[in-house]
Amino acid sequence: MAHDVWVLHGPNLNLLGRREPKIYGRDTLAAIDARLAALGEELGLRVTSFQSNHEGALIDRLQIAMDEADGVILNPGALTHTSMAIGDTLRAMTIPVVEVHLSNLVARERERQVNLTAAAAAGVIMGFGSVGYELALRALSARFRPRRKRGGKS
Ligand code: DQA
Repeated sequence: MAHDVWVLHGPNLNLLGRREPKIYGRDTLAAIDARLAALGEELGLRVTSFQSNHEGALIDRLQIAMDEADGVILNPGALTHTSMAIGDTLRAMTIPVVEVHLSNLVARERERQVNLTAAAAAGVIMGFGSVGYELALRALSARFRPRRKRGGKS
């Protein structure tokens, strides 16, 4: 049975492509989501993407994901640095969440080095631009279907 992965994009990520391209690249969110859907097909995963500029809407989606999805890829945008509420939701999650950031937060301003969400994620991928989302999807895929040991029979 195909696993369901929900991709949740936070505030301002709808502006990708024309938002500070030197930092966030030129790919639009639609292009990123289309690539994820295609990779999902290859990996046998159903990928559903959602963007919101509203903290509560993202929290609602995360809560629903617990019942309706098998894993989540989340870029909380600037809420990463401010949202104890999203951090609390992530701590309550019963499915794996991979946090993604286009930019390398530890190399940016001090305020962006404050992260209230990552500690509750299964893992974080940052600094690889839009490729990070694809790496996150592969990471979830590996979690759903652990590879057999090379040469192993079982
Ligand atoms: C971001 C980094 C955040 O600091 C910023 O507010 C964003 C995007 C990233 O993907 O690099 O909106 O999450």
